[in-house]
Amino acid sequence: MGFSMSSVFNCTGHDIRVPDIVDSDGAWLVDAGGNRYLDLESGVWCLPLGHKHPRINAAMARQAESIAHTGFCYSSNIVEQAARSVLSIADMDAGQCVFLSSGSEAVELARQMCRHIAPDAATLCLHDAYFGSYSATTERGDGWFEFDWQECAICPDREDCKSDCPRLQGIPDAVSIFAFEPGSASGFVRFPPVSLIKNITRLIQGRGGKILVNEVTTGMGRTGAWFGCNHYEIDPDFLCMGKGLGNGYPVSALAINRRTAKELEQGTFRYMQSHQNDPMAAAIAHEVIAVFRDENLIRKAADKGKKFLAALQTLTDDNNIREVRGRGMIYGIDFVDGEVGDRIYEGLLKQGYIVCNRGGMFRIDPPLVTEEADFMGFVDVFRNLLAAEVAATG
Ligand SMILES: Cc1ncc(COP(=O)(O)O)c(C=O)c1O
Repeated sequence: MGFSMSSVFNCTGHDIRVPDIVDSDGAWLVDAGGNRYLDLESGVWCLPLGHKHPRINAAMARQAESIAHTGFCYSSNIVEQAARSVLSIADMDAGQCVFLSSGSEAVELARQMCRHIAPDAATLCLHDAYFGSYSATTERGDGWFEFDWQECAICPDREDCKSDCPRLQGIPDAVSIFAFEPGSASGFVRFPPVSLIKNITRLIQGRGGKILVNEVTTGMGRTGAWFGCNHYEIDPDFLCMGKGLGNGYPVSALAINRRTAKELEQGTFRYMQSHQNDPMAAAIAHEVIAVFRDENLIRKAADKGKKFLAALQTLTDDNNIREVRGRGMIYGIDFVDGEVGDRIYEGLLKQGYIVCNRGGMFRIDPPLVTEEADFMGFVDVFRNLLAAEVAATG
């Protein structure tokens, strides 16, 4: 095809498998040879409304005609409107919001704010939580307490976890920040027990601490609710969003509840980035939320999610798949043998289906607008590839 990526430095750890994408439409990508691919990863979880959404493209074009970027001392009404939309879906109407560019930045800012309020506080996170490319993921040394919840997942009391459980009692006194990722993306679609999370939250709030929820992947309808934390009946102080908020455009947001915003206002907290509260980013986030509401996408994601999960679970009839699990429209599929997973991945790609393959585990997070017929077509192809594996191994 004569297409090379020799000038692009790739440090993601992932090979580029299709280098020549020239078009897109909804859940589909098209390469230069006219081959179509169903994008069941939503890019990097970023496209709840699918590629090239007409209303998002129109909002971008409209905004580009007026103002895309301003300095810190100048703003535009669209930023205030978008902040209200974000706070309303976060259920923090009386709070305040900051727009940034990436999920990592939103989490980093939230943690800096927590540390500003309580400089000596240690942060608890679940052992398999991921917070992005910055210090919350890469430097979890002093000041962090990792809580391994694997034992809790198999505990007989997991549905009704007791607050006097020795594991909870073992959380050091210095811990008064809980950074919670409600659905462990890097932990491969595993969801910690509700009663455990409620107890940790109660403990931290009882200490006057802060709850920071990372909704970069689990937000924007992905779990069949606006946010992953909606499944946990908790009341966060900080809610970080990214990815789906911009439907492909780099915008993230940090929603801060009123009490915490007031606390910060009284101090000397400062944080500046060039693209903080950009009108273009705000206009896109505002329109994405409007499309979600107009198209009743949260309800649809919950309903469609159940159908898609049920269809995927029919694949477990085969000896090659150990488990299929999911919540809303995010699914994890564990293979018994990782090499079989690798071969199925190649077979799917060849037939025009993109999934995330992580060494014997598939993660699937389709655009929320994926057509049911397209998804069922994928399940059929997957089933045929599994059958071919069984036939080949006798
Ligand atoms: C759970 C979670 N949090 C944060 C991030 C960081 O977001 P970004 O890559 O936009 O900085 C990611 C990215 O994959 C993520 O999966």
